[in-house]
Amino acid sequence: MLCDLHTHLLPGVDDGAADLSESLRLLSQEEACGVDTVVLTPHFKPQVQNSEDFFARRAAAFETLREGYSGPIEFRLGAEVLYSKYLANMERIGDFCIEGTDYLLLEMPYHAQFDEKTVRSVLRLFDEHGIRPILAHVERYDAVLRDVSILERFREGGCLFQVNAATVTRKGFFAGRFLKRLVKEGYLDLLGSDCHDPEHRKAEIAPAINRLRELFGEQIVREILGATEMVLSNQRW
Ligand SMILES: [Fe+2]
Repeated sequence: MLCDLHTHLLPGVDDGAADLSESLRLLSQEEACGVDTVVLTPHFKPQVQNSEDFFARRAAAFETLREGYSGPIEFRLGAEVLYSKYLANMERIGDFCIEGTDYLLLEMPYHAQFDEKTVRSVLRLFDEHGIRPILAHVERYDAVLRDVSILERFREGGCLFQVNAATVTRKGFFAGRFLKRLVKEGYLDLLGSDCHDPEHRKAEIAPAINRLRELFGEQIVREILGATEMVLSNQRW
C-alpha cells in the first residue's frame, strides 16, 4: 500500500489544482507512482478563513472530483492547517484531522520561532483534543534549516514529521547533507508530494522512495510505510 499524505489536488479550493482536468492529471501521476490512497489536504488558514465555509467548499470540490474520477485511488479528506496559537480554541478543530484519524497536518509559518511557547501551544491540541499533529514539510522552516534538533521537543510531545518528496530527490551537496541529518536523527517519519499542479509541483512519491532506498537502505522505506499505515489506521504512535 502506498499513500500520498499531503496533496493539493482537490479542484479549485486553494492554490493547488485549478480545475478538474488538473486534478485528473495529478491523479494519473499518483497512479503511475503506484499510489493507492490519497489524502486531500487543501490549505486552511484560520487567520483569514472561516471553518464552515472551508468545509462546504471542500465538500463541493470533493463531489466534483468523485464525479470526474473513475480510477482505483481511494481518498481521505483532510486539511493542511496553518498554525495559530489559538488553534486549540477552535470549535471544530477535530474536523480538520485526516478522515477517520486523530492526526492533523499542521503547517508552521516559515519564519516561526520554534520556542517553548510555540511548542506548548501545538501540544495543547493533544492535551485538550487528543489530536496528534503531523508537522508538514519540516525541511522548509528557517529554524529547522539552522538546526534540525529544534524538532526534538515536538517529537517528545508526540508529533510526527512529514517531508516533501521533492526535498528527497533534490540534488546537490547541501541538499544531500541536510537530508542525511533528517534521516539519521529520525525526523523523516512520513512522505508527501505536496503536489499543487502537474507541471511544477507534481505528484511524485515513487522517485523519493527509490532515492531513500538507494541512499539509506530498505529499512527507512519500511519505517515510512509503517508510520503511514499507523496514521491511516489511527494507531497510537
Ligand atoms: Fe502543502
